[in-house]
This record gives sequence, C-alpha cells and structure tokens, in this order.
Amino acid sequence: MTSGSIVAQITDYANRPDPYPLYAQLRRTPVRREDDGTYLVSTYYEVRSLANDPRLSNDTSNRSPGYARPGQPVESGLPTSFIFTDPPLHDRLRDTINRPFGPPHSPRFLDSLRGELARVVTELLDAFEGRDEVDIVEDFAYPLPVTAICRVLGVPRDDEPRFHGWADALASSIDPRAGDDGGPEKAQRARQELGAYLADLIEARRRHPGPGMLSALAPDMAPADLEATAVLLLVAGHETTVNAITNTTLTLLHHPDVLDRFQKDPDLAVPLVEEVLRYEPPVQFVPWTTALADIDVAGTTIPRGSPVWLMLAAANRDPRRFEDPERFDPTRRDNEHLGFYTGIHYCFGAPLARMELHMAVPELFRRVMFSRLLEDPPPYRANAVLRGPRHLPVAIEGLMA
Ligand code: HEM
Repeated sequence: MTSGSIVAQITDYANRPDPYPLYAQLRRTPVRREDDGTYLVSTYYEVRSLANDPRLSNDTSNRSPGYARPGQPVESGLPTSFIFTDPPLHDRLRDTINRPFGPPHSPRFLDSLRGELARVVTELLDAFEGRDEVDIVEDFAYPLPVTAICRVLGVPRDDEPRFHGWADALASSIDPRAGDDGGPEKAQRARQELGAYLADLIEARRRHPGPGMLSALAPDMAPADLEATAVLLLVAGHETTVNAITNTTLTLLHHPDVLDRFQKDPDLAVPLVEEVLRYEPPVQFVPWTTALADIDVAGTTIPRGSPVWLMLAAANRDPRRFEDPERFDPTRRDNEHLGFYTGIHYCFGAPLARMELHMAVPELFRRVMFSRLLEDPPPYRANAVLRGPRHLPVAIEGLMA
C-alpha cells in the first residue's frame, strides 16, 4: 500500500470527519486494485452482488500468504466467532445462536427488554437536568447499547468497567491500520482476557441458569464456541449502535430543517434511522473478505486469494442506485441501503439495534432543547471501519419532562 494510495487516505485519521469525497473518487473505478493487491469495491450493485456471492469468504485464512488479516486473531488458537466463518459452519452457528434471540423460536425476546431500556433512556435524559453542556457519547449513546447487550447476553451490567477496555481494544483491531501501534498484540490480550471472563460466566450460567442468551445456549454449544460468540456479540453490540445514535444526533444538528420536521412529526423516526444508516453508516466498509476463486466484476478479474474490501459507505451514496445521494433525506423512497450489509452475514443484531434507535432518537429530540454543537467536527475515534465521534459535546438550553 503506497502512502498516497486511496486506502492510505481513507484510513488517514485526518479524513475521518469527511471521507465521502474519497468514496466519490473511488466509485469512478468500481473495482480498484491497490498496489498491495487488495481490491476495493465501491459501487452499489457490485458490492451487493459480491456480498451475496459464495465465492467470497469471510474467513481470512483463505488469503494468499503475505496479506494482512484484519480483525481475526486466529493465531491465538482461540475459536473464531461466526462472523469470520463460511457455510456450512457459519449457517449452523448462526441458526443455533438465533434460537434464543429472535423468530421463529423466540419472537418475543427483544420485546421483553423494552420496558427496562425505556427506563434507561428516561434516566439518562433526566440526568441532563440543570446542565448546559452534555457529551452525547458518554452521557447517552454509550450507556444504552451496553445495557442492552448485557441484558441480551445475561452479563452483569455492573461488570462493564471490567470489559469496556477489552471490547474497545477488539473493536479497534478491525481497523486496517491497527497494526501501526501494536494493535494486534493488544487485541490478542484483550481477546484472551475477555474470553476468560466470559468462560467463567458461561460456566456459572451452566450451573445456575438465569435470563439471557448465555444461559439459553450453554446446554447446546461447546464452551469455546459459546465464548467466541459471546465475545462477538458483546463487541458488535457495543460500538456500532453507539456510533449510530451519535451519527444520528450529529446529522440532525447539521440539518435543522429535517430536525424541525422530525420534531413536528415523530413518526419520521423509522425512515430517519434508515436514512442515517445509509448516509452515515457506522460500519463504513468490510475489509476482511477474500476471493475463493477468480471473480469477474465490472470488467475486472479479482484473483483467487486476494483481499477484497466492500465499501458500504461508498455504495450507499452511489448515484446509480440512490437519487441525489449526497442529500440527507429521510423521506426518500426505496432506501435499500447496505448499512447492515446483505446476504448471509446480514447484521445479526439489526432488530436489536433498530429497537434501541427507535426508542432513543425520538426521546432525545423530544426532550432535549439543543442549542449548538460545541465542536464541529467533533473528535472522531481512530477506527476507519467502525467510524463515529469519540465525543459529541453539545450545548443545551433545557429539558422537557
Ligand atoms: C446500528 C448498529 C449496527 C450496525 C450498523 C451493524 C452493522 C453490521 C454489518 C455491516 C455487518 C456485516 C459484517 C460482515 O459480514 O462482515 C454486521 C454483522 C453482524 N452484526 Fe451488526 N451492526 C449493528 C449492531 C449490532 C448489534 C447491536 C449486534 C449484537 C447483537 C450486532 C451483531 C452482529 C453480528 C453477530 C454480525 C455477524 C453476522 C454474521 O456473520 O452472520 N450488530 N453488522
């Protein structure tokens, strides 16, 4: 990868607040080969077709020797989580894990969490009373998804200070530049420590079952597979939804006309959330797929063994698919964005994430009288893949009951 390459620019922290001109540049070459042999695919139909192509693997051990393998510390000898597997193993694991989570076996599980999550939203917003500045990330967007994923798994919420740092290190390790500052070693350690913490908890749940997925899955899964699944769900359930809530807040404050409409018509919440997932997707690209065969796409052959990055955020603004794609428009029709991906790896947690967003966003904008952003652009996280502000300080004028 040369320093002036487009990948270097996309991963360059200086471009984190606005990578979209780079994505527009990328789309001019729908399938682009970088100097190091990585292929970047950035247009909607090509990304969608590859994400549904069985010749593309999520298991990076299929890469030709010498290529970096983001996000997959397999060298530790620990089992990988199902996101990094292919069928039939992927499908078997996903089917098992879905049993206590969603339909057809558990259609009411997520609904059963609503009451508690609504109380958390209310308490977090009540704590804004009397303040004239808040940090949307620390004070609102982070605590809600963490509570949600703890309840989903049956992990004690009070243990959060213990696993916060491990989850952070693992989320950071999927950034293609994580290697620059000893990221893989940190991730390896974090994976081992978080794994050990969860293994103890799984053992305790096996002996004394309680609410949540760990107890429900313990009789049906090998302990190491369940541990890997719990690590994945805890990490995936952490940062993505935090970024989604924060990106929604920032985008609305940048679009006062839309905010005004939304405040008059809270029914806009559902299409608004979908439009944020298109316009500012919390997962900007998927850098861990590998071609299992030579694949012809848009006139280019991607050779077998090559790393392939699917650029979701670029595809989501492809003018061949979306009319006026640079416009943030929650009333747009036919918004089949790729924010949650597509195909067999479509986001497992999408129903949970949507439920949290539909609860959090309308309440935030109903109750809080926003004055202005205190830093614009706000400071971003280092991660180019799971992109979002690290902090979002805003001035507020008051709080409705
Ligand atoms: C707005 C929030 C979220 C966004 C934008 C998001 C986005 C994504 C994307 C793009 C993928 C595909 C990655 C790939 O295949 O390589 C994915 C997969 C996944 N997500 Fe999410 N996610 C969100 C929230 C969640 C939550 C809350 C959970 C936990 C319950 C979760 C669990 C997963 C899992 C387990 C996978 C792997 C699915 C598979 O390989 O079959 N996600 N997500």
